[in-house]
Amino acid sequence: MIPWWYTQLGEPEKQKLLEAFDQRRLTLSRSAQEVEQLFASLLEVPYAVLTNSGSSAILMALLSLGIEPGDEVIVPSLTWIATAQAPAILGAKVKLCDSTYEAPIIDVKKLESLVTHKTKAIIPVHLNGRECDLKAIRKIADPYGVKIIEDSCKALFSKSNEGYLGTLGDLGCFSLGMISLVSVGYGGLVVTRKKELYEKLKKIRDHGVQRDPEDYAHLGFNFKISDLLASLAIPQLQNNKNKIQRSIQLHERYSESIKHPDISILPIKTKAGQVPVYAEAYSERREEVIQYLQENGIQVSRYHHPMHRALYLNPEGSFPNAERFTKNSFILPSGPSQKMEDIDFVIKTLNHFDCGVTA
Ligand SMILES: Cc1ncc(COP(=O)(O)O)c(C=O)c1O
Repeated sequence: MIPWWYTQLGEPEKQKLLEAFDQRRLTLSRSAQEVEQLFASLLEVPYAVLTNSGSSAILMALLSLGIEPGDEVIVPSLTWIATAQAPAILGAKVKLCDSTYEAPIIDVKKLESLVTHKTKAIIPVHLNGRECDLKAIRKIADPYGVKIIEDSCKALFSKSNEGYLGTLGDLGCFSLGMISLVSVGYGGLVVTRKKELYEKLKKIRDHGVQRDPEDYAHLGFNFKISDLLASLAIPQLQNNKNKIQRSIQLHERYSESIKHPDISILPIKTKAGQVPVYAEAYSERREEVIQYLQENGIQVSRYHHPMHRALYLNPEGSFPNAERFTKNSFILPSGPSQKMEDIDFVIKTLNHFDCGVTA
């Protein structure tokens, strides 16, 4: 079976893991600090705070802004549930916004009507490397003093003409989970250009405790990451150009070569610097296509359900575009270690769909 995601961790990662082990200081020590410095330098941002997941990164970002019960936070309906759960856990009202018709990212035309005097933050999600319209979002947010937290969990190293996604709002959050260009199993990162937020984030990661002299400065939690996991990121960051190139190459191959009239690849502006994590196919005959691919030894992953199906969020509004993407989209075999011959087999198989012959 060709897996829908494949990334290889090899000897360089094993070596760094052993080095971290030998240091015998397993939490936020040398390896974690090196990873923070590498990220800050590669993303061209002054401050990076490593944590144990992308979900924690979003929660930390919200805590750093002091989000509390009664506040409102706007998130797109189409994302992974972590984006909506983080504000909900803090007791904030989560207001959901539909995606655009063309791409699975927040529709800024529908955003302004959701902003009220209670809105404290907007979390645009740069899904699969796609830039949300940050200029338009700023225009809506700034007059109300609303902060922008970019969910870049699926947009590591993706760029707009202003810089790296995740570094352009008040705070940016990244995931280092398995489905990422830098995979450590579980890990995350918050970045910011604001020193005051950076200082707060470091305390929030450690239960909001200020050390020496000790003080319970903020609400926080244990969001720390082990150096054993953090160490796995070092060789991957040193090799990040190859990973980026590979992801782009794979996406372009799918986009250029799939010719079936009922199947398309959701576009990503790779020529403009956007870096896809994976390739998303779109077909109104999705279930038939998935069954056919499975019969041919090809695994795929269906798009997540939209957030408005999480009834505990008390969703309000209508979300036709999010529903359409959820119903018809699925992820084809991707990941920086997939073999190109396997990608070509997937393409050939898809192009033969419906022809009465298998690939
Ligand atoms: C858009 C988005 N936000 C947040 C997360 C949460 O990241 P993590 O799984 O590292 O907690 C994910 C994970 O896939 C995601 O896709």
